[in-house]
Amino acid sequence: MKLTATSAPRRGAGRLVASASRVSPQVGLPTEALDDRIAIVGTAGSGKTYAAKGFVERLLESGARVAIVDPLGVWWGLRASADGSTPGYPVVVFGGRHADVPVTSDMGAALGRMIARQILVCVIDLSDLGSSAARRRFMAAFAEALYEANEEPLHLVLDEADLWAPQRPIKGWEGLLGHIEEIVRRGRVRGFIPWLITQRPAVVHKDVLSQADILIAMKLTASQDRDAMGAWIEGQADRQEGKRILGDLPRLQRGEGYLWAPGRGLLERVSFPPIRTFDSSRTPKRGEHLAIPRTLAEVDLTAIVAALAAAGAEDPRTPIGDPYRHAQLEQELTAARARIAVLEEDNRELESRLAEISALAASAVRVPVADPVVPAFAGTKGPRSRIVKPERPLRVVTSDTPAAPGTGIHPAARKLLTALAQHAPARFTWSQAATLAGLKRSGGHFNSGRKDLRAAGYVAETNGLVTPTPDGLKAAGEVPPAPSTPADRLALWCSRLPAPAPEMLRALAAQGERFIDADELAAILGKKPSGGHWNSGIAVLRNNGLIETDGRRYRPAGLFRE
Ligand SMILES: Nc1ncnc2c1ncn2[C@@H]1O[C@H](COP(=O)(O)OP(=O)(O)OP(=O)(O)O)[C@@H](O)[C@H]1O
Ligand SMILES: [Mg+2]
Repeated sequence: MKLTATSAPRRGAGRLVASASRVSPQVGLPTEALDDRIAIVGTAGSGKTYAAKGFVERLLESGARVAIVDPLGVWWGLRASADGSTPGYPVVVFGGRHADVPVTSDMGAALGRMIARQILVCVIDLSDLGSSAARRRFMAAFAEALYEANEEPLHLVLDEADLWAPQRPIKGWEGLLGHIEEIVRRGRVRGFIPWLITQRPAVVHKDVLSQADILIAMKLTASQDRDAMGAWIEGQADRQEGKRILGDLPRLQRGEGYLWAPGRGLLERVSFPPIRTFDSSRTPKRGEHLAIPRTLAEVDLTAIVAALAAAGAEDPRTPIGDPYRHAQLEQELTAARARIAVLEEDNRELESRLAEISALAASAVRVPVADPVVPAFAGTKGPRSRIVKPERPLRVVTSDTPAAPGTGIHPAARKLLTALAQHAPARFTWSQAATLAGLKRSGGHFNSGRKDLRAAGYVAETNGLVTPTPDGLKAAGEVPPAPSTPADRLALWCSRLPAPAPEMLRALAAQGERFIDADELAAILGKKPSGGHWNSGIAVLRNNGLIETDGRRYRPAGLFRE
């Protein structure tokens, strides 16, 4: 199971979205267009971040995975309602003044890896990292690790994108540009949906900006910046129309913009509606103190911090940065807590295995293999005894008998291999395999298992999908047959998924081919179609490929319908 920032029970979560009358008009962009690459350009204070927040709120409603890179510390307001009196969305804030988890410039790789593997909505606030170099160092490692590890759809919002993908890269930081380019230009197959926000289109790298499918142009005065948009128009849209719009841009008011999606035949001048969350990028008037929200949505940090610590532990080179000693110590403390959580998880796993072994031992017979019977310890020469289930043919096993392939691998590897072999030749993502094997995708256990399978050559991976190799199938030995009917498959998945996913899946499966919308599904289940619990259920189903979605309408995946 993947952890999700939205999985913990939370006081009042979802209250924000309960009132339909407060739902923003959708400024002409259909829901499916939110999965396009979007560029938002405009001068300082023209309303780019604000407009992007409106779209992000819509994404959060749909249970999408979203990571927002925020160099200015202006995105945390998503956690509260517009007037600050009720909770907003349970978005995890990494770094900055409103951090749930503090970050240092050394944590880029760990955070990138962790976000890539989890169902999370998060803000990565870099406003407190100290220097531009520290921010870049963080981002270079973050973008690289994220690119390497991400496999499933992820909206990556890069506010102030010119900082990371400048037209003229700063000497020594070409690598950072390379990683961002990789995500924006080649990341589609790895699930990346980049949204870029910039004041200065002229200084963003052309190869990056040119990739946008949709342009949102707010007030733009500098002629170089308008010229830079000309290059996008040349490649994507109508030149005459472009000329007219570029001429209009200097006169736009704050919050106004052109929304241009040539691929969807969409061009309109829009006023972006009020956002439903706290306006944390508001410019304070002289002498004004901005009110701080009284209530923030709660997030469950235990699992997140544990996953972060596990991701950090994979990188032995993580240095201790002297200038950030304080944050580092805080991080160590959080990591120590996380370690405890991981150990507790391991402990629970060991206890359950011990219980299985005891149960097996109770129903087993001990087979003497030599005379006299001397129980041998690992590593010692001599006869061995082995516990064998009574119904199996008795077999004498001695230390001279070569070990069967697949013995001696990590228990989690065994579980994964069995699950994969059971369903071969079907191919799964690692998340699906973990779910099928009854493992936590975020746990160290899963990681060790996966590592073992890869090292032993028992699995082959193509395009993020994994299947056992012939050696893997041999090592798996006899496995129970895979469920062959949709009903059996439904029962299997429901037994593996965390609540509320099983009841959602059952309700959807009962509808057969038909897409039903979130409200109808919620009515069947007697739930509200919003809030953390709801979103996590939908996200788990979606990320395991168990449902098909059409905006906020769902139906079960083919394997439950055939
Ligand atoms: N559509 C809008 N409706 C109401 N207020 C808005 C709107 N757009 C912007 N504002 C107000 O203007 C403020 C500044 O907008 P925003 O932070 O989006 O600017 P920006 O273009 O991102 O600027 P910068 O480039 O400096 O980050 C917002 O915090 C909000 O208070
Ligand atoms: Mg902004």
